[in-house]
Amino acid sequence: MECSGKVTPQLMLAVGTAVIGSLQFGYNTGVINAPQNIIENFYNETWSSRFSEPITRSALTALWSLSVAIFSVGGMIGSFSVGLFVTRFGRRNSMLGANVLVLFAAAFMGFSELAASFEMLIVGRFIVGIYSGLSTGFVPMYVEEISPTSLRGALGTLHQLGVVIGILMAQIFGIESILGNRSLWPLLLAFTLLPALLQCALLPFCPESPRYLLIDRNEESKACSVLIKLRGTDEVSEDIQEMREESQKMMREKKVTIPELFRSPAYRQPILVAIMLQLSQQLSGINAVFYYSTGIFERAGVSQPVYATVGAGVVNTIFTVVSLFIVEHVGRRPLHLVGLMGMAVSAVFLTVAMALLDQLSWMSYISIAAIFSFVAFFEIGPGPIPWFIVAELFSQGPRPAAIAVAGFCNWSANFLVGMCFQYVEQLCGPFVFVIFTVLLLGFFVFTYFKVPETKGRTFEEISAGFRHSSGQGADKYSAPEEFNTLRGHDPDL
Ligand code: GLC
Repeated sequence: MECSGKVTPQLMLAVGTAVIGSLQFGYNTGVINAPQNIIENFYNETWSSRFSEPITRSALTALWSLSVAIFSVGGMIGSFSVGLFVTRFGRRNSMLGANVLVLFAAAFMGFSELAASFEMLIVGRFIVGIYSGLSTGFVPMYVEEISPTSLRGALGTLHQLGVVIGILMAQIFGIESILGNRSLWPLLLAFTLLPALLQCALLPFCPESPRYLLIDRNEESKACSVLIKLRGTDEVSEDIQEMREESQKMMREKKVTIPELFRSPAYRQPILVAIMLQLSQQLSGINAVFYYSTGIFERAGVSQPVYATVGAGVVNTIFTVVSLFIVEHVGRRPLHLVGLMGMAVSAVFLTVAMALLDQLSWMSYISIAAIFSFVAFFEIGPGPIPWFIVAELFSQGPRPAAIAVAGFCNWSANFLVGMCFQYVEQLCGPFVFVIFTVLLLGFFVFTYFKVPETKGRTFEEISAGFRHSSGQGADKYSAPEEFNTLRGHDPDL
């Protein structure tokens, strides 16, 4: 069942406002990269004045890794809590309320220097991490739920576009002549307040998710009027009918809890796919680049590492846009596969370039090119797709629990990379990316064999495909060939 979809102003306003949350996540991911040395200096000075001796290298590495990675600890907590809010308060109000966290975070980070306290900076990073974790659940859920089926992938990719624009903004603002200098870096961190204010101003003009209104709240007439605005037409009966059917099915199911996701055979496969896709995104090593690229470029002999970092952000943004335009034509599966393989090959080039740097100084150019292509391939598939595909793999009932579990796995892996990368790099030197290559190849194999195509299918059709393949009995949506189609032989191609 393919619902026709067009991009209406109301839909764009809602999606555009929601993805400010994604931008915040990206901004805070990228913001500590460029000013690392300057903020480390502040840590050193604070330490010296407190303990009357300079900080040791190992204490500084530990404190810095903590400052970077505590963001993902917050993210783990936030993403895991998504289900607590979205069902009770609705999708839109949850997004609105979460902004209180940004207010606190910006204050802690912005005043940390004044208070001579690196602890405040760390607490601020933790709080904004919680907000970002919530956002990575709220935003894809809301966007997927308000989008027409035929635009879900493209609009879902806007979440990632928000993330990458946030990263790029942070990298540009982090340039020394802008905010990345000794006097203005607290503003660089506190800047996150402005998008929060903007989102708070715009959200009241955005509708609640019609799926939430109809399926969770049983408010069909409200859902109907929201849909009419979102779709720009009175002809919404097909959407309403589809939601009603999902709603009826949900009433027959028990409420889906997190343990249930793992116990019930109908959900076991989609949750495994969801988790593995999240892991493939983070354990690809992408955030080794976005947290630490300035240092990586420096060691690779690049003379202006901060500009190379901005370059990575530009490439990152361009390729997200590319993915946005092709995801509805090519499908999720092929893009994810191409992305993973391309990243693996780029990581090999990077390793060779770093290993040969002492003999051949021009290898620094190869390493820039390798990092750029690593990032480009990431955004083709592994960047955007895992975020929105989880909402697609589950119907309304299990969706919040599934998004929470998937988000938690994503953030845990993010934490692992953020915390350990500097240590592993000290151990393995130029060969650190070999680890990511091996993992990438593993995820490629998994995706090839296990990940279905979801393009152009309703939520219900997708979950029916899983039920069918797990032997839970077919229902009226699941054609016998469903899973062959899902395994990649898409008739629309
Ligand atoms: C994805 C990842 C995030 C990463 C970003 C890079 O959104 O979840 O951790 O920093 O892509 O573009």
